[in-house]
Amino acid sequence: MQLDVVTLFPDWFDWFRAQRHVSNALAQGHELRALNPRDHTPLSGGQVDDTPFGGGAGMVLRVDVMDAALKGFYDVDPVQLRSERRVLALTPGGRMLDEKFVDELAAEPAITLLCGRYEGFDERIVQHFASDAVSIGRYVLSGGELAAMVVCDAVLRKLPGALGHADSAVEESFSKALDGQPEYPHYTRPAEYRGWRVPDVLLSGHHEEIRTWRRLRSHERGAEGTPGA
Ligand code: 6GU
Repeated sequence: MQLDVVTLFPDWFDWFRAQRHVSNALAQGHELRALNPRDHTPLSGGQVDDTPFGGGAGMVLRVDVMDAALKGFYDVDPVQLRSERRVLALTPGGRMLDEKFVDELAAEPAITLLCGRYEGFDERIVQHFASDAVSIGRYVLSGGELAAMVVCDAVLRKLPGALGHADSAVEESFSKALDGQPEYPHYTRPAEYRGWRVPDVLLSGHHEEIRTWRRLRSHERGAEGTPGA
């Protein structure tokens, strides 16, 4: 899979790319590129953003700059590009990222993530160049970069070869194997710590009982919305 992030801060992704699960995925042939629109800006002095019409604080990424950047990266009109690959505009008001959305994206051969800055994008970027608008929660980040990393992390770990164990992505929170419920609680050694005992069933060796117990806990958490689930 090819993951392209269009960002004014491509360096941020050097750190992300160096993390073990990401570098493992990349070693399997997946690709993560950080592309800087400044490299293709038609404006003088490397200008990419501007003050908002109508007034207000902050700067807005210009539509002409994004047009030239995407044309420069892909050699195709960006209006056409979004019918050839998913182009996601990262914006707090977008479609909320969840496990279903991540599965959808992980099935794509290639996606492009557009990061706005400060006050975000000129709305015409979202309207005409993006296939989707994505949000990672109802709060505002100072740019789309961290959100893009969240999307890339969630997508990459779905791909074969990214995780240490082929099974780890199968029976995890919100997966089909768990009926879309959050994951059951995990325990490891020591079996007792400060008087806090691991549930006996997990130490019993009865695999069927363990499966039943886990399914039950998973569904309980789904009903409660347990933090840490
Ligand atoms: Cl995708 N971008 C920004 N700037 N803030 C956000 C977000 C995205 N999702 C939640 N907050």
